[in-house]
Amino acid sequence: MSNYHIKHLEEYFQVYRKSTNKPESFWDEIATEHFLWRKKWDKVLSWDFTKPEVKWFEGAKLNITENCIDRHLATRGDKTAILFEPNDPKEGAQHITYKDLYHRVNKLCNVLKSKGIGKGDRVCIYLPMIPELAISILACARIGAIHSVVFAGFSATALATRINDSECKMVITSDGSYRGAKTIDLKSIVDEALEDCSCVKSVLVTKRIQTEIKMKEGRDEWLEVLLEEASDQFVATVMDAEDPLFILYTSGSTGMPKGMVHTTAGYMVYSAYTFKNVFQYKEHDIYWCTADIGWITGHSYIVYGPLANGATTVMFEGVPSYPDYGRFWEIVEKHKITQFYTAPTAIRALAKEGVEHVEKHDLSSLKILGTVGEPINEEAWHWYDDNIGKKKSPIVDTWWQTETGGIMITPIPFSTPTKPTYATLPFIGIQPVLMDENGKEIEGNQADGRLCIKFPWPSIARTIWGNHKRYKDTYFSAFENMYFTGDGALRDEVGYYRITGRVDDVIIVSGHNLGTAPIEDAVNEHPAVSESAIVGFPHDVKGNALYGYVTLKETGEGRNHDNLRKEINQIITEQIGPIAKLNKIQFTEGLPKTRSGKIMRRILRKIASKDTSNLGDTSTLLNPECVQGIMDKAL
Ligand code: WTA
Repeated sequence: MSNYHIKHLEEYFQVYRKSTNKPESFWDEIATEHFLWRKKWDKVLSWDFTKPEVKWFEGAKLNITENCIDRHLATRGDKTAILFEPNDPKEGAQHITYKDLYHRVNKLCNVLKSKGIGKGDRVCIYLPMIPELAISILACARIGAIHSVVFAGFSATALATRINDSECKMVITSDGSYRGAKTIDLKSIVDEALEDCSCVKSVLVTKRIQTEIKMKEGRDEWLEVLLEEASDQFVATVMDAEDPLFILYTSGSTGMPKGMVHTTAGYMVYSAYTFKNVFQYKEHDIYWCTADIGWITGHSYIVYGPLANGATTVMFEGVPSYPDYGRFWEIVEKHKITQFYTAPTAIRALAKEGVEHVEKHDLSSLKILGTVGEPINEEAWHWYDDNIGKKKSPIVDTWWQTETGGIMITPIPFSTPTKPTYATLPFIGIQPVLMDENGKEIEGNQADGRLCIKFPWPSIARTIWGNHKRYKDTYFSAFENMYFTGDGALRDEVGYYRITGRVDDVIIVSGHNLGTAPIEDAVNEHPAVSESAIVGFPHDVKGNALYGYVTLKETGEGRNHDNLRKEINQIITEQIGPIAKLNKIQFTEGLPKTRSGKIMRRILRKIASKDTSNLGDTSTLLNPECVQGIMDKAL
């Protein structure tokens, strides 16, 4: 029996037991049989969650791109690796074969090298969903540089923070991007960011929207010009198993975004193995994940996982509503998509537009549907099942995180019976536990607690760039000897998991993680604002939306509130990006505080959610009298 491809439920249980009883020999076998190594490892795993330190396949040598590209050339050279579907359907799709990809990545490697980029250097990639984004990622990996992709919806300030934190030497960007009927001037955002980034020596600019842009002499160059001259041969740099592959920033509940560091071998093995099983990938399938590569889902399940399996992976540049709300289904029909992986927020948004957009298209190619990024509510689950999967395509509700690198809790389609709103069972090798507030493990089924993982898996993030202490404090201090996810979960009578949401101050809006503290910092920069508190409240499309309570200084009193709201959201857009804008802003006289001066968000959350029947004990507040006033004026 091959443990690489699980085909039925008994096999899942059998392989799962093997993976937890003997993790080292289990992963040794998977890694040996399905990947290409320059040298094998000396030790499969060493770990200590108290430090914390985790190493997989120590001593091994490899290059991940030899696994994602080179090894497929002989058997799949002419197969489409990346199927690019542009924003405007009239432009026509591009099929990039494994052979094309090989040559294009090699050329870019030579360009990077000519610009002085080498092993260990950080390269920031700020690009829309165009083939150059995947090619840049792979070129960095091939040369041994550490890529740091920043989602192209982030503002100049947010981009600068991320560039500086990991001291990137180079930025790869484009003149602009298309987003439905709009174009966005990416290059000027980069220019603004770089005013504060002395570490960046060169900027490579690819042409996408053909607009006039400013090029800074001595720093900026057109990528196409450099590529024309470059050789299409490049020998991959030999990397150690534990060499960093990439940094990806994710929001924390406080402070700076956290630069999660993923390393090479473990990440490769786990992203590939999960991809194969969660999507039951077969040779002629056309797999489409609608995420942006700026997030972890795109890294693991548009680029690395699919390519490591020699798959055809679709990259879509546009938005679900352009030219109309049938765009996703038109693409499914056109390319005969077999696996479709998206976010609950997209499903809810499309469900609202009505089934007529779906019914125009033939979706019979679909075999498996997936969701990721936030809990899926029952209504959205059924809409997806009824109208898209026509009740014959299993839905894999996959729970995981930027920090976990790959899918952690998920059904295996056609094996695990699904249950709406449940991510169901742990993936092979994953040992979840539920902990109570006193730090004790809750044993047995039918439990409700904080979700932790008690044993390392190959793609766990190894640290936070430049701040190992924060890594330890955030993930390994709440519970002894455990990785703490920050999520709450239920376990039902058969052991299925249902993720109930964040238990910290991270709010997931339309599938994007947002920390409240950085948004509050932005709001507080408005000269009329004295203080603010931001909480989430349920929203029928976004899952959660943001509610801001803002107390004004004397100077702000008497000012037009609608204007103030606009100005506050403008600052947020500049500092973080439009995704962090507040849906509702209530001006308050004061905010409820504990005696030690901490804002009582629990109360504010309840008011924002219109759930004020039981506010809990407010007598310990420093200023209980302000609560009634806030309730009276709630939006
Ligand atoms: C949430 C995305 C419920 C969760 C891959 C997690 C989910 C955070 C699910 C990580 C799911 C992700 N059901 N909640 N299937 N998937 N989440 O880092 O709160 O962008 O901690 O990674 O999203 O978000 P991130």
